[in-house]
Amino acid sequence: MDQQLIGVTNQLQDAFASLGSGSLSFDLPQIAVVGSQSSGKSSVLENICGRDFLPRGSGIVTRRPLILMLENRRLPDGVSLSDVPDNQTNDYEWGEFSHLPGKKFHNFDEIRQEIVNETEKMTGTNVGISPVPINLRIFSPKVLTLTLVDLPGMTKVPVGDQPPDIERQIREMILQFISKPRCIILAVTAANTDIANSDGLQLAREVDPQGLRTIGVLTKIDLMDEGTDVVDILGNKVIKLRLGFYPVVNRSQADINNHKSIQQALENEKSFFENHASYRGNAAYCGTPFLARRLNIILGRHIERYLPETKAKIESALTKYRDELESLGEPDILGDPSNVLLDIITKLCREYSDVLDGSAPDLST
Ligand code: GDP
Ligand code: NA
Ligand code: MG
Repeated sequence: MDQQLIGVTNQLQDAFASLGSGSLSFDLPQIAVVGSQSSGKSSVLENICGRDFLPRGSGIVTRRPLILMLENRRLPDGVSLSDVPDNQTNDYEWGEFSHLPGKKFHNFDEIRQEIVNETEKMTGTNVGISPVPINLRIFSPKVLTLTLVDLPGMTKVPVGDQPPDIERQIREMILQFISKPRCIILAVTAANTDIANSDGLQLAREVDPQGLRTIGVLTKIDLMDEGTDVVDILGNKVIKLRLGFYPVVNRSQADINNHKSIQQALENEKSFFENHASYRGNAAYCGTPFLARRLNIILGRHIERYLPETKAKIESALTKYRDELESLGEPDILGDPSNVLLDIITKLCREYSDVLDGSAPDLST
């Protein structure tokens, strides 16, 4: 049920993105990642996806929101996960951008390059930012079906020819996403910094003061001073978040330079928690795989909760779209099978409706 719902939501997001801004836009349930620059946001996302493909480097790398729709694909019979090598092009994993419909990227280095190209198209090659999102779907047997939004990291000091109000611009871009009540906030904080000063948690608190839809992710647990740990934070004793805090260990810069695979990194992370005096008693609740499973469940529940509202929005948008077409004197287009978009929306609306109450609306009249 959850898998099906999230899959439909991802398709809808794509369909509406392909319409361009303005005509139809929905704030569908999703998870947005916020935190300071270099807190480990891209690393967390990559670990959840199980593939290297996000542009990275020092400074502000993420300069447009990236809406990342992960879709789990079952492998064909006779094919096993060992036939899906990490960090190598294979038939069973690919990405598709909504601005390049129909083009499948099996090479994840090319995905990274396309994100860079698309970013520069909108913001130039300097360090400017743009609130116009890039939509990317990743199909893989190694991901859980969920939607994530990567946002520029928070920064206080303008660099290069960034505008003096860069901090405000980034804040506003992030707030645009996370202020929506249906957005789940993944607030990333490096554990070797003071959690009381966490940019991500502070911004999350502004829009979710009771901590009802904020998930805390603590990165860099491996870089904490010896004798210190995050056990009190995990026990919700420092800052209260209903959805809790999750500790992770990502690849260090040296790991990345040495081309350590994500699979290897996940194994190291597992053994880190299993062997650490503070965490070994609860190692099953630490690390990226546990976080990914929790995210999937939380997002599924969230989508279910907003289903009636989403359905109503889709229906009213469809009605408006049909009225517009009719006022243009083109009522026939509604019956044209080549009108792919309308087809998709109609089909998805039916699916949503089926899931909701078992009865599809009659869209043919
Ligand atoms: P972002 O700017 O928030 O997207 O942060 P990145 O994911 O690019 O990470 C910034 C730097 O911190 C990179 O050099 C990462 O390798 C490093 N890093 C991220 N998470 C961890 C972690 O859990 N442990 C260690 N040792 N390094 C990390
Ligand atoms: Na960075
Ligand atoms: Mg980043």
